[in-house]
Amino acid sequence: MKTDIYYFSGTGNTLYAAHHLANRLGAKLKPVAALVNESGIETDADAIGIVFPVYYGDLPVVVKKFLGHLEKIKGKYIFAVATYGGGAGSSFKTMSQILEARGGILSASYGVHMPQNAFRKPWENNDATLDHALRKMERIADDAKDRKTGKHYPGVLMKPILCLMHEAFKPLYKKGMLKYSNASPETDFDMLVHLADKSFTVSDACNGCRICANVCPVRNINIANGRPIWLNRCENCLACYDWCPSTGEKALEKRPFSKPF
Ligand SMILES: Cc1cc2nc3c(=O)[nH]c(=O)nc-3n(C[C@H](O)[C@H](O)[C@H](O)COP(=O)(O)O)c2cc1C
Repeated sequence: MKTDIYYFSGTGNTLYAAHHLANRLGAKLKPVAALVNESGIETDADAIGIVFPVYYGDLPVVVKKFLGHLEKIKGKYIFAVATYGGGAGSSFKTMSQILEARGGILSASYGVHMPQNAFRKPWENNDATLDHALRKMERIADDAKDRKTGKHYPGVLMKPILCLMHEAFKPLYKKGMLKYSNASPETDFDMLVHLADKSFTVSDACNGCRICANVCPVRNINIANGRPIWLNRCENCLACYDWCPSTGEKALEKRPFSKPF
């Protein structure tokens, strides 16, 4: 079985997961962010894995766009792995809809609990979470080898309720995005996500090292006069914030970036 693993990752959780999956399966690892602007994305692999972080209870915008460019997926075994701090929200539903519109089927879906990057959960032991996630990736790889199908993630029995909760949260997400983007209320949510970087700022602690520009998975940052400039195609992934080296892990509040969200 030839397998391709497509992944998107901001702060590294999903890359970690995708990497282990690819190693275990002997699969090719392909970055969604580098492919997303290709008009037709085809593969001769007969199995496709899609590994992504959950954002706002759904797929990241870049992943949605990427899925919409997949070609000739009919008959392929497609499995998806969501990494998240809480739950998968509507992400698999959205993915199924896009794949079906393109003639494919989401054969299997998995959720993997990972450290929450949007806000810290001090009561969680990140090492234990990552260790658990790693073992789960091994089981997912074995399932993929056997072409196991179905939904395999916590909360699947409560899915209708969780989807309703996600619907209830959507206006709150939109309200937040409107504030960050300063855009008009008619602007569609995905565009608001891209424009949220209009509110990002840096303090004098920024030394212009360019790491934020280099780690941004969607190349959304230029450096001008020693300061980052965001280009309004932000995925809100927090890589720029998380990887900023000007302060240490234990001094988050002193980072030159203001906490974007
Ligand atoms: C903008 C944003 C929105 C997020 N929304 C959710 C969410 O709705 N539910 C959830 O469980 N985790 C959410 N998370 C947490 C991430 O899904 C989780 O930490 C993920 O593993 C990060 O993957 P990465 O390190 O590969 O970017 C969100 C993170 C960010 C940055």
